[in-house]
Amino acid sequence: MQARLVLFAATLLIINTNIIYAQSFVIMASWAQTWADILNGGPKRWKVDDVDAKRAALSHIVQHSPNVDGRPMRILCPLAGDDPFVHYAWGQGHDVTAIDIVPDALRAMRGLFGHDMDEWSSEGDGGNSGAVWKHKSGRATLLEGDILSNRPELLRSFDVIYDKDSFGALALDDRPKFCERISEFVKDGGTLYVEVKIKDEGRESGGPPYHVEKEDLMEPTNFGGCFEYVCSLGEVYCLNMGGMKQTGHVLRRAPRR
Ligand SMILES: C[S@@+](CC[C@H](N)C(=O)[O-])C[C@H]1O[C@@H](n2cnc3c(N)ncnc32)[C@H](O)[C@@H]1O
Repeated sequence: MQARLVLFAATLLIINTNIIYAQSFVIMASWAQTWADILNGGPKRWKVDDVDAKRAALSHIVQHSPNVDGRPMRILCPLAGDDPFVHYAWGQGHDVTAIDIVPDALRAMRGLFGHDMDEWSSEGDGGNSGAVWKHKSGRATLLEGDILSNRPELLRSFDVIYDKDSFGALALDDRPKFCERISEFVKDGGTLYVEVKIKDEGRESGGPPYHVEKEDLMEPTNFGGCFEYVCSLGEVYCLNMGGMKQTGHVLRRAPRR
């Protein structure tokens, strides 16, 4: 009887794991199409290349991270795409880790660090666990894979999470798991910098990108369960997208009990 129960539990685990892999694959396929279009010269969509916007974001982060006291920070950029913030923060001496489900997005990210691809080494087979890319400086790591995956190696690892258009890009059902992962990866007292869009048409307009306000971020099943709200930064820069504004928020990881 006990052996049957163990077999049944193992079967359920395998089915569940396969469902999770299948879901990741569907998400990946759809974002991979978007990236193929962008990299073939299609519309830039969410991309902001202006380094002034990245400088401003890092400056907000430094200002709201007094516990780091001017030291280099470990910064995680989930759903990073090829956001130039990663290269900018690295250039300022910080240790950066970026995660994206589309390998081509992270290939574009590596291109921002210069043409010499020998500066990067990779581990992993690019399969379900995804490849891990490391820069020879030892301060930049790019992880191919699903942000929703369990990553025990990242627990309590980061002083800062930089989330630009990540929370607002995910399907609504994926938000609680995303917020759980972020709350796992950040250190106690760590800073969460979030950029989201607000839309003239409001929440009813759907997404992605979704219309996101403080109330959405701070829902108990989202960041509200583990983070304190620090401040709103209002509109952080002007977007060339009709009917939308880019707004910023700062949250802080509450100490674990
Ligand atoms: C709206 S874009 C934002 C990219 C970047 N943060 C920026 O603002 O430039 C969302 C990104 O998330 C990636 N993505 C979507 N779902 C993901 C997931 N479950 N895990 C990891 N990356 C994901 C997509 O490939 C895409 O690059």
